[in-house]
Amino acid sequence: MHGGINESFYQVGTDRWGGLAMQENQFREAMTEAGLEIRSWYQIKRPDCYPDSESDYEGCFIVVAPSLYRVRQPFRPEGVTSRLTTLLSTWTGHWWTGPGVTRCTTPTVNRSAVLSVKAKLVSRPQIAGEGILFMEGPIGVRLEYINSVHEKYHPVKKFHSGADYDKLFDPEVYLNSLYSDFIEGAPTATETTEVIDYFHKLYSTGNIKGQRLLDVGTGPSLINLISASRCFEEIYLSDFSTANRNALKQWWNKEENDKWSWESFFRHVAKLEGNEDEWKSLQDEFRSRLKDIYFCDVNNPNPLSPLETEPFDTITSGYCLEFACLSERSYRQAMKNMTSLLKPGGNFIMHGGINESFYQVGTDRWGGLAMHENQFRDAMTEAGLEIKSWYQIKRPENISDCESDYEGCFIVVAMKNSDC
Ligand SMILES: C[S@@+](CC[C@H](N)C(=O)[O-])C[C@H]1O[C@@H](n2cnc3c(N)ncnc32)[C@H](O)[C@@H]1O
Repeated sequence: MHGGINESFYQVGTDRWGGLAMQENQFREAMTEAGLEIRSWYQIKRPDCYPDSESDYEGCFIVVAPSLYRVRQPFRPEGVTSRLTTLLSTWTGHWWTGPGVTRCTTPTVNRSAVLSVKAKLVSRPQIAGEGILFMEGPIGVRLEYINSVHEKYHPVKKFHSGADYDKLFDPEVYLNSLYSDFIEGAPTATETTEVIDYFHKLYSTGNIKGQRLLDVGTGPSLINLISASRCFEEIYLSDFSTANRNALKQWWNKEENDKWSWESFFRHVAKLEGNEDEWKSLQDEFRSRLKDIYFCDVNNPNPLSPLETEPFDTITSGYCLEFACLSERSYRQAMKNMTSLLKPGGNFIMHGGINESFYQVGTDRWGGLAMHENQFRDAMTEAGLEIKSWYQIKRPENISDCESDYEGCFIVVAMKNSDC
């Protein structure tokens, strides 16, 4: 196979074609998981003269991998024997089984050989349990077969990203999946509580305040904004997804929603401020300071385009850029786009997940750009932001591997350089 490294798009004429930006180790892992044994990896550097507008790839690779495959999972041939028979009828190669690795050679497969092999498979007890099946032969046949096994025993979760946020993202399912366990003191809500408490402390210092605050990629969520709403006269929210903007508008317009309520969050912050009974006035104050909810695409040079606005005193954002960008290169660009909306000397406050390549909502998975602390820091510095503090929250132990692979959450506070 040959392809581009970390290539999120290429341009043909005036059109751009999006791609999945992948690093060498991600290509390698995908191939290994599909049963390919990598024998050589050759890399060609991106030519220096290549314009950024044509593609963001970092270079080209050529990989050679022979077709050995191992399925390391419960293997029950009874369920797939008819499929196996069909596939093996086009099979020319040999295959063998484990864990004792009994090799069955079928140099030229014909129907009777297939049937005898099948009989052996079914009659071997360890194969019906935690067996390992090694297969060798034409890649197409092997992958088709493997997919049939995977589909049967490991249903593939749907994986969404990018433009899907406008078509498929369901605000209520999202809120209920991620934040519904927020009940003060409940052990499952430790991270949300810590995040809200941190924002309360940050804004109650009085150091972060101003006229206009913009939140980028708000989604349907207010968790980073409740305490902030005390410190700014005008609050603007923004998101790429129509459904999310509508969910925010519903809350703003006090429209009834029996699927989600922000009451416990406002109660919690009001309590931190000293009087839980004041939660309604806190919520009303937020609503009255909220001035607009914009469309936003962080991949546009002006993320609020076609709207042209004055720069903002503070910009906040949570778990957005790493889900809106397919490559580190586009992440860095999106960070610059977002920062262009901020006044020199203005504050930038962002929270997000460390090394998070996906999160799960309902039965769907949303892909993200897994980034480490230094990658976040570099992107911010390159965009003209000076980092003032970096706070990290460890991944709670009760979060299962299916929910997300993130290593923890961070909250970073930065200031835009006054010469930018
Ligand atoms: C994981 S959610 C985070 C939502 C919210 N900020 C939170 O902390 O819960 C990611 C959000 O980014 C938004 N988004 C995705 N692509 C975007 C883009 N290109 N520009 C702006 N927002 C985008 C999605 O619509 C979604 O609301």
